[in-house]
Amino acid sequence: MKRYENKIAVVVGAAHGIGFSMVERLIEEGAVVAALDLEPDVMIEKFSKYGEKVYSIFCDVSNKQVVEEAITKVLEKFGRIDVAFSNAGIIGRKSLLDTTEEEWKKVIDVNLNGTFYVNQAVLRSMVERKIKGAVVNTSSIAAYTVSANTGAYSASKGGVSQLTKFAAIEMAPYGIRVNAVAPGTSVTRITEGTRFNKERNEKFLSNIPMGRYGEPEEAASAALFLGSEDASYITGITLIEDGGFTLF
Ligand SMILES: NC(=O)c1ccc[n+]([C@@H]2O[C@H](COP(=O)([O-])OP(=O)(O)OC[C@H]3O[C@@H](n4cnc5c(N)ncnc54)[C@H](O)[C@@H]3O)[C@@H](O)[C@H]2O)c1
Repeated sequence: MKRYENKIAVVVGAAHGIGFSMVERLIEEGAVVAALDLEPDVMIEKFSKYGEKVYSIFCDVSNKQVVEEAITKVLEKFGRIDVAFSNAGIIGRKSLLDTTEEEWKKVIDVNLNGTFYVNQAVLRSMVERKIKGAVVNTSSIAAYTVSANTGAYSASKGGVSQLTKFAAIEMAPYGIRVNAVAPGTSVTRITEGTRFNKERNEKFLSNIPMGRYGEPEEAASAALFLGSEDASYITGITLIEDGGFTLF
């Protein structure tokens, strides 16, 4: 069954990793996708095989005006947005005492403020057009747990999960659902610091009951469930997808 047939979808942070998998899965399931990222050239190359089904647009989520311009381009091209995945994110690795103001603000600007800008622009478009759509934000298990040197990241993702609840309550009367997915450690660029470090790799793997990292396709699957009609009575949740890591 194709759950996204005739749907206009937006994926933010679409060039690599989990966002890239989201685009591929959405196309498989029948959607037309507007793919937003800092790296339009990478997207044009990766998605050229899909022709008109993927529309790649430059977007820096940390800049409200740029986000609004990108969402306006999507609306001008397709007339509406049915579902959006706000997935762009970066990680910072510094102790609390060593983190500069600039480093702290960069992580918060991309991960938390960017999610706010995307949610506000997309949700406004849905309310104005009476679209009973869905938004899925990418949070993280870091919203619930902390590991050494990733304080700004954890703070940003805790904020994403709270923003998701806030948006869900406000949007429910319009028939719009807002949820988040919280992946555990997944095989993408931002976890190379863990996966390529022998000691950290062994420590992380030993704390995952399923004994392996997640694949980006698995995080995309959880997000696509939340964005689809299969999740029609689910709103405001953060769905943990972590091989059991947070059970300990
Ligand atoms: N990989 C994991 O273990 C893991 C775990 C939990 C949550 N996450 C979250 O998943 C999301 C995707 O990360 P990933 O693991 O696929 O990493 P990734 O680095 O492979 O992908 C991140 C994408 O976001 C884009 N991006 C970064 N800054 C941007 C900006 N300012 N504007 C627009 N796009 C920007 C990048 O270009 C890239 O395409 C992030 O929000 C991340 O925090 C990842």
